[in-house]
Amino acid sequence: MQEKPVYILAIESSCDDTGAAVLCNNKVLSNVIAGQEIHAKYGGVVPELASRAHQQNIVPVVAQAIKESGISKNQLDAIAFTQGPGLMGSLLVGVSFAKSLAMALNIPLLAINHMQAHVLAHFIEYENSKIPTFSFLCLTISGGHTQIVKLTDYFSFEILGQTIDDAVGEAFDKSAKILGLDYPGGPFVDKYAQFGNPLSFKFPYPKTKNPLDFSFSGLKTAVLYFIQKKVKENPDFITQNRDDICASIQHTIINILMTKLELAVTQTGIKQVAIAGGVSANSGIRKALQQAETDLGWQCFVPKFEYTTDNAAMIGIAGYYAYLQNNFAANDSVAKARMTL
Ligand code: KG4
Ligand code: ZN
Repeated sequence: MQEKPVYILAIESSCDDTGAAVLCNNKVLSNVIAGQEIHAKYGGVVPELASRAHQQNIVPVVAQAIKESGISKNQLDAIAFTQGPGLMGSLLVGVSFAKSLAMALNIPLLAINHMQAHVLAHFIEYENSKIPTFSFLCLTISGGHTQIVKLTDYFSFEILGQTIDDAVGEAFDKSAKILGLDYPGGPFVDKYAQFGNPLSFKFPYPKTKNPLDFSFSGLKTAVLYFIQKKVKENPDFITQNRDDICASIQHTIINILMTKLELAVTQTGIKQVAIAGGVSANSGIRKALQQAETDLGWQCFVPKFEYTTDNAAMIGIAGYYAYLQNNFAANDSVAKARMTL
């Protein structure tokens, strides 16, 4: 007899994107996301504005996700929500909504760690999806985090290295801001880097006590001083060299990430390597991993674009595995701005 499918509604509201998705087991039926343009003009996420926008978006986004899934809300088996880490005001909107709807539908709740969800996005099944087996390494690179983790099971994470200051997404975004590019600047740096020479300018490589840790604050400062000096000499320096500057910054960042990953592979002997988080959309890191498959014999896993930046489908897949383990959340569970793996 075929087992009854599990339908999960997932809600993500940890930062500046309001997301809702419906999954049937490990497949995504719908994945709706409402971004918040308002932050671009401030050059970064404004927490107060983010929580207000979540309040406006949450009901229409959830309604849309249920509509697009083709199922009725009465068929849902559970509701997964992002418990943390993230901005408290943003998290509160998703958590409160999830709890209320679960109570109304009389179904259980699944509290999900956003960082685990970024990694577990690799288990979403779709046409031609490539799914890792345990154990594997994952480089999680986003606007808030930079980590190399080892997964021995769905919820067994060991952090091998992490940033001691800025996240890699911040390094992209802050460098972009110095160059006068819009927020979030990562995708712009990536776009202009395609046309530039990555060896035009040299930036320093950080040293960390744990060789698998990361540090990006020095790079941001180096970019700032470099640009200030050059612009003093030539006020048009940025416009005349934009592509080369972007290519050089991206080249430095990708080299840092790949050096650490290679070290992690050597230390653990694990050659299955995944990437996750917003920065895994970067074309430079994607190319570097492809190269590592050929040159180093790694087996690499790169998520579909829509599952790299913040989305609710990843919360749904993490929810599905939590559901299978009967790992339900109490109805008095609360949002957590800080949460470890
Ligand atoms: O995972 P995410 O959507 O949100 C966080 O949890 O932080 O990641 C957002 C980050 C931003 O810093 C953004 O600039 C960066 O991902 N990002 C990129 C690219 N696309 C998004 N960075 C470099 N290249 C890209 N193509
Ligand atoms: Zn994220």
